[in-house]
Amino acid sequence: MTRVFLETYGCQMNVADSELMAGVLERAGMTLVDRPEEADAVILNTCAIREHAEQRVLGRLGDFARLKAANPALVVGVAGCMAQHLRAKLLDKKRVLDLVVGPDGYRALPELLRRAADAPVAEVRLDRDETYGDLEPRREPGVRAWVTVQRGCDKFCTYCVVPFTRGRERSLPLPELVRQFEHAAAAGHREIVLLGQTVNSWRHDGRDFADLLRATAAVDGIERVRFTSPHPSDMSDRVIEAIATCDRVMPHVHLPLQSGSDTVLEAMNRTYTRAEFLDVVRRLRAAIPGVAVSTDIIAGFTGETEDDHRRTLETCAEVRFASAFLFKYSARPDTKAFRWPETVSEEDKGRRLTELIEQQMAISGEIHDALLGREVEVLVESRGRRNDGQLYGKSRDFKTVVFADDGAAPGMLRRVRIVATTPVTLVGESLHAPRPEPLVTLG
Ligand code: 5AD
Ligand code: SF4
Repeated sequence: MTRVFLETYGCQMNVADSELMAGVLERAGMTLVDRPEEADAVILNTCAIREHAEQRVLGRLGDFARLKAANPALVVGVAGCMAQHLRAKLLDKKRVLDLVVGPDGYRALPELLRRAADAPVAEVRLDRDETYGDLEPRREPGVRAWVTVQRGCDKFCTYCVVPFTRGRERSLPLPELVRQFEHAAAAGHREIVLLGQTVNSWRHDGRDFADLLRATAAVDGIERVRFTSPHPSDMSDRVIEAIATCDRVMPHVHLPLQSGSDTVLEAMNRTYTRAEFLDVVRRLRAAIPGVAVSTDIIAGFTGETEDDHRRTLETCAEVRFASAFLFKYSARPDTKAFRWPETVSEEDKGRRLTELIEQQMAISGEIHDALLGREVEVLVESRGRRNDGQLYGKSRDFKTVVFADDGAAPGMLRRVRIVATTPVTLVGESLHAPRPEPLVTLG
């Protein structure tokens, strides 16, 4: 058992967990391979947030079942948020899965894989003390490093499966985090993104998230600090002040609204009202010039009326989010809302989602158009995805910017003037572009 193929589904937390698993496997002498055909074991790191995510994983398991038919020694494992649900499948007669491992079982992964080669293994216990703070992840090279600072969630929003799949909220200790930041900087990463389900409720040893932001920004070699996702109810003045006063903490806050209706917010157990959310946005904008606020919205939650939906549209129009992730409500087993009969038809959910998307595209487009002619600072990440003559990066407020290659390497900062826009991208011209030689004039 030496070669492992690892595939990741879902959110950035899962991407970071896969880097953690990669670190654990490599320290145990195993190698990660790029193709499942070359592997002794395959692991799918899964997501359970919406039904669609689960279906994609189940489809992929079908591919691995075929691979296993051709190579019966192959160990097939499932990790992450679907582990709890897939445990029963281990006992299936036509068994494909050999290993099911939940988000708190990764420390023992090499051992679990070896055991699974002989007999099916399930390790789905949640451990309220496991943070993996001492384990160095094997981070993908690149400009950005994702650092998990908090695991699990205690908020129990009534639609959300995360508190059940990932367990109770735990913060990683500050000294272990600082060590990770320093390693990331030494490995060439220039931006750190602090990750947690409700990242701004991070706490350790009397320190809060404001202290953590300052500690991250103080690490030599780190140009930019971001974080995702804060909970509106935990957005303290101390945290806002830290964002406002640390030049390396970027002026972008992803603040999930979920709904603009107080009735729905209450049913969701979000713990804030529409007015309180608007007040958080007002405080952010007053303290942080040019701050971009983006959001998550769920369309068609159980009980959501046309009036509630209109309140959400109005709230989005009032806030004018820079961008938004918009989702159709998906009932998840284990959650409180799963027991409530769904009241919104698929058709209405789809239409409400479309209305939210169309409004958001128009708003994002207008916000981008207002940037025409302005200069922004871009941290270059890579070559453009479509056009090789272009560079790709993010502005300080997390807008995607592409511009003609001016020789900048990934990790460099560039001043760029915006010359064209779409609702999702800004097109710029580098102000570092080599200029033609001036004509030599005589006399
Ligand atoms: N259905 C639809 N969207 C959901 N989210 C979380 N749970 C569900 C669900 N059951 C969305 C929320 C959250 C984002 C990560 O996913 O908007 O902020
Ligand atoms: Fe889920 Fe709510 Fe926790 Fe976010 S805050 S992970 S939506 S329960």
